[in-house]
Amino acid sequence: MNRSIHELIQEMTLTEKASLCAGLNMWMTKGIERLNIPAVHMYDGTNGIRKTNSDEEMGITSENVPATCYPTGSAIGSSWNTELLHEVGVALGQESKEMGVELLLGPGINMKRTPLGGRNFEYYSEDPCLTGELGAAFINGLQSEGVGASLKHFACNNQENEKMVTRSEVDERTLREIYLSAFERIIKKSDPWTVMCSYNLLNGSYTSENEHLLHDILREEWGYEGVVLSDWTAVNDRIRGLKAGLDLEMPGPAHYNTKAIVEAVERGELSEEKLNQSVARILKLVERVTAPKENASGADQDYHALARKAAAESIVLLKNENGILPIQPESTPSIAIIGRFAKKPRIQGAGSAEVTPTRVDIPWDEIKELAGETVTLSYAEGYPADDSIREDLIKESASLAATSDLAVLFVGQPEYAESEMHDLKGINLPEHQVKLIQAVAAVQPNCVVVTSSGNALAMHPWVQHVPGVIHSWLTGQGMGRAIAEILFGHTNPSGKLSETFPVKLSDNPSHMRIQGENGKLYYREGLFIGYRYYDRKEMAPQFPFGHGLSYTTFKYTDLEAAQHEKGVTVSLQVENTGKRTGKETVQLYVHDEECKWVRPEKELKAFAKIELAPGEKRKIVFELEERDFAYYNTKYNRWVAESGYFQLRAGSSSRDIRVTNRLFCDFGKEEITFHKFSLLNEWVSDPIAKDVLEECINEMNKHVKDKVSLQDEFLGFWEDFPVIKIFQMFGQSWMMERSPDEIVSELIGRVNEKRLQKQQA
Ligand code: BGC
Repeated sequence: MNRSIHELIQEMTLTEKASLCAGLNMWMTKGIERLNIPAVHMYDGTNGIRKTNSDEEMGITSENVPATCYPTGSAIGSSWNTELLHEVGVALGQESKEMGVELLLGPGINMKRTPLGGRNFEYYSEDPCLTGELGAAFINGLQSEGVGASLKHFACNNQENEKMVTRSEVDERTLREIYLSAFERIIKKSDPWTVMCSYNLLNGSYTSENEHLLHDILREEWGYEGVVLSDWTAVNDRIRGLKAGLDLEMPGPAHYNTKAIVEAVERGELSEEKLNQSVARILKLVERVTAPKENASGADQDYHALARKAAAESIVLLKNENGILPIQPESTPSIAIIGRFAKKPRIQGAGSAEVTPTRVDIPWDEIKELAGETVTLSYAEGYPADDSIREDLIKESASLAATSDLAVLFVGQPEYAESEMHDLKGINLPEHQVKLIQAVAAVQPNCVVVTSSGNALAMHPWVQHVPGVIHSWLTGQGMGRAIAEILFGHTNPSGKLSETFPVKLSDNPSHMRIQGENGKLYYREGLFIGYRYYDRKEMAPQFPFGHGLSYTTFKYTDLEAAQHEKGVTVSLQVENTGKRTGKETVQLYVHDEECKWVRPEKELKAFAKIELAPGEKRKIVFELEERDFAYYNTKYNRWVAESGYFQLRAGSSSRDIRVTNRLFCDFGKEEITFHKFSLLNEWVSDPIAKDVLEECINEMNKHVKDKVSLQDEFLGFWEDFPVIKIFQMFGQSWMMERSPDEIVSELIGRVNEKRLQKQQA
C-alpha cells in the first residue's frame, strides 16, 4: 500500500469499507484494486500449515499441500520449553513464506476444562501461566518472520459438543483467572496480529458479538489493537458484532452482510466511525503482512529435524521402575514390538488442524535402526484398526512377548476418537488394548508401554502391571525417531505433563457438568480445573500436572525470596546428581497463606527448563510481579494482591515440591469502600473508620444497657455482623426515630470526609 491508512479510509466508499469486513473466499481477505490494497492469505493452523489446494475449499477430509507436521498443542505444551516454541514459530514463519501464507490461524490456547474436549490436542495445557508463556514465545517467533498469528478460540470454547449453540456460563472471577488469563498474557507479551473469536456463546451472547469480551476486556482493558476475526461461520448478527469489535468475518464474501452493514450505517444504527475503526485495523493487518521481509531461503532449514527435536522435548517418561529404560541393547538380545501404532503411528489429531505431513518417521523403522544388529526385533499387530476385540492378535502378541527379553507396546486413542467437531467418549484405552497390555504383562515382566493421545489418559486398569510407561502424545512427523531415541537413551526424556492424568474420568472436576442442558453449560467447578482441583480436593491423580521423569536425577536447594519495589525475586539452586546430561523443568508455584477469598492451594507462576551435565549446579532466578500474587476480586472488579504471607514452592512437578520458602509480601493496604452492609471487622480493620465508629459507639453506650465494645472479646463473636445490624441489635433505645440506615450513611460520610482531609494534609 502506498498511502496511509487514514488516506485510504477517506477515499473508500461506504460499500468498499463494508465489503472489506468479510473475506473474499475461504482463505483470503478482499483486496481493492483501485486503491492498491492487496488481499491477505491465511491458512490453518496450530501445529503446521494446512494450506488447501484452492482458496475455495475447506479441505478438511482431503490431502492438502504437504507441510511440516510439528507436535500438536498438548504435546508441545509438555515441552515446557519457550525457546523451542520460539524456534518452531520462526520455522513456521519461514515455511509460511515459502508457501505464500501471510497469516497463520494459530496457536490454540483454550484451557482444558475436561479431558473429553475433542480439540484438546490442539491446546497447550490446563494452566494459564504455562499456556501463556508458550503461546507468547510461539507468536514472537512466527511474527518475527513477518507472518501473522491468530490467537484462538476467544473464549471458553472448551469442548465440541454443540459448541455452536451452547452458552458457556462462567462466573467473572473464573473467567479472568482461568479462561482469559493466558489470552491476556499472550496479548501483552507478543501482540498477535489477530485474535479469532470462538463459536460458542459466553454468558448469554455469542463471543463474536460479546461487548464485555471483545470491547470491555480485550480492547479497553488489555488495549488490544489488532484484528478480531470470526471463527469460520461464527458470525450471527453482523451489526452487533461490528459494534462489539469483530472486524473481519470469515469465510467470505458474505455479500448479505456487506449490504446489512451499508444499510445499518445509512439508517444510523451503526456509526461510520465504528466501521472505520474496523477497516483501519484490517488495513493495518494488510500493512503488517506486506511489510518488506526477508524471503525464506528454505534451503538451509531442516524442518524435519526440528520436528524431531520438538517431539523429543515433548514426550513424557511417566514411569520407569527398576530402570527398565533406557534399553541396553547389549543385555537385551530380543525385543517384541507390539501394536499397530508402531507401524502406523498417530502423529496428530483431526479437523482443521490436520496437516498433510512432508514425511513421517515410523517407530518400527527407527527402532530397527537404533537397535543395531545384535538385537532381534519381532513385530505383532496386537489390535485391529476398529474397536473389535481380536483374541488371535492378543494371543500372538503374548506368545511373542513371552519368548523375547523385552516387550514394547505401542497403544493409544484410536484415530476416530479424537477430532474437532466431537468430544471423546472416554479416556480409557480401547478395551482391546487394555486386554492386550494385561495379557502381555502377565507373561513378560519387562514391559514398556508407549501411549499416544492428545488428551489425558486413564491408565488404571493396566499401569500397575507394567514397569515402564512413556506418553508420546501426538508428536508430529518426527515422533517415530524421537521415541526410538528415548527408548535407547540417545535422548534423555525431558517432557512434563501439561495436564493432569486422573486415575479415572469421574475424578475430573467437570464430570458432573460435562454437557450443556437447554443450551447452557455451567462451569460450576469454577477456578478448580486441573491440578487446582486435585490439590484442593486432596485427591491423588495417576500422574500429576508437571510430572515427567528423566534418566538422571536433580537436587533442589537454597530457595530464597525477597520483595523489592517491582515485585519478588525468587532464586534456587538445581544440581544434576545423576550420571547423564539431562534437562529439568523447574516449576515455581505460589501459595497464598492468608487470603480471605478461596484460592487454589497453589498456582504455577514461573518455570524454567535447563540442561545440566552430571554434577553441574545452576542458580535459577525468577522475577515475579505483584500480579503473580493477585486474584481477581469481583467486588472491586480488578486484580488484588493482598499483603500477607505467601509460600514460594519450587518443584519437579505439582506434586513433587522440593523446596519451599515463606515470605511476607507487602502490597500496600486496600482501601475499603464502605457501604450499608459493611461488616464490623471491616470497620475496625481501617484506622479512620475504626475511630469514627468508636466515637459513635461511645456515645451510644451512654444510652443503652448492652454495651458494645471494639475489643477482642466482643469482636470475637460479633465481627461478621454488619455494623448496621449492631445498631439494630443494641442501639434501639439510643437511635429512637433515627434509622440505622441514616446512622450508617452518616458514619460513611464522616469516614470519607476524614480520608479526604488526610489526603489533602
Ligand atoms: C476452526 C478454526 C479454524 C477454521 C478454519 C474452524 O472450524 O474452529 O480453528 O481455524 O475452521 O479452518
